[in-house]
Amino acid sequence: MITVEGLKKEYQLVKRDPGLKGAIKSLFYRKYETKRAVKGINFTISKGETVGYIGANGAGKSTTIKMLTGILTPTDGKVTVNGLIPYENRQKNAKNIGAVFGQRTQLFWDIPVRESFNLLKHIYEIPEDQYQETLKMFTEVLNLEPLLGVPVRQLSLGQKMRCELAAAFLHRPKVVYLDEPTIGLDVAVKVKIRKFIKEMNQRWGTTVLLTTHDMQDIEEICERIIIIDDGQILYDGDLQAIKVQFGQKRVIHFELLNDTAFELPANLIGKVDVLKNEEDGNKVSLSFDHQQTSSSYVISEMMSCYEIQDLSIAEPKIETIVEQLYNKGEQGVAHE
Ligand SMILES: Nc1ncnc2c1ncn2[C@@H]1O[C@H](COP(=O)(O)OP(=O)(O)OP(=O)(O)O)[C@@H](O)[C@H]1O
Ligand SMILES: [Mg+2]
Repeated sequence: MITVEGLKKEYQLVKRDPGLKGAIKSLFYRKYETKRAVKGINFTISKGETVGYIGANGAGKSTTIKMLTGILTPTDGKVTVNGLIPYENRQKNAKNIGAVFGQRTQLFWDIPVRESFNLLKHIYEIPEDQYQETLKMFTEVLNLEPLLGVPVRQLSLGQKMRCELAAAFLHRPKVVYLDEPTIGLDVAVKVKIRKFIKEMNQRWGTTVLLTTHDMQDIEEICERIIIIDDGQILYDGDLQAIKVQFGQKRVIHFELLNDTAFELPANLIGKVDVLKNEEDGNKVSLSFDHQQTSSSYVISEMMSCYEIQDLSIAEPKIETIVEQLYNKGEQGVAHE
């Protein structure tokens, strides 16, 4: 559905000295600076995949999505979406895609939501019966009924976002790009939006490319993630695999029966790290690499030395892993 080969984007920035003098000088003499936002990336996405496209602020995510939608022309490299080159066939491409930019709106500001949808129906030439069916379904799933008669500018952020989402999926596009669709939303609306995206993916096999800083969005919607860092791809693969590959650290929290001074059992020395809070009294947490030391070994060693009241094993969190990867990327850049 999507192929990206050696894709690059450079922005030309006009450099200007500060103040009026600088402004006048730049009228006659312009200094340009090149910002390399995307530095030659490759990936392919198949029909029906749900891919999380993540990375730190300024990594190049929105720039990539803009090139995929045809808004921006790449500096170099190739993009095809459903066989079309987006920036060369903007109109044809538009029929295949839907997009939500969390920071922008594609709805018409001054007219009621229903009229916006109606306009989209004409723009995308959606057959009347299909339009009615889709609208009815979206109205139910996203709870749009009370919003349809309201002008967009009177809607709250969460209400607007639900309408945006409906607008993006209205013509049943093959691909939907979602650039931070849950930004600034409350938990209940986020849940609704995630459910909606998943449902559309399952019902119509819509390919979804999602950008977000909320890892919960990723965990719930995406099977695969692509991590971009400073314009380069840092990781591309299965979401579960990343946990296995990078989430070797396990933590077990123990609650000991007695408030005794804690000493690590001899057999665990060198294998685990102790994370103990002085105020916690009888609580102690052990962190270890679970590929080298098994959880059951740690537990049985602890049980042979202490009376344990309670214990819990913490799964590696995707947030932590991604943070580690971003940091690694930054260090990599520092070495360049
Ligand atoms: N129109 C533009 N002109 C010049 N530079 C730009 C422009 N748009 C983006 N950039 C620069 O390109 C880089 C990548 O920006 P981009 O918006 O793609 O990041 P992002 O990954 O979407 O970040 P965020 O998570 O903050 O949305 C940034 O360093 C940004 O300053
Ligand atoms: Mg962005």
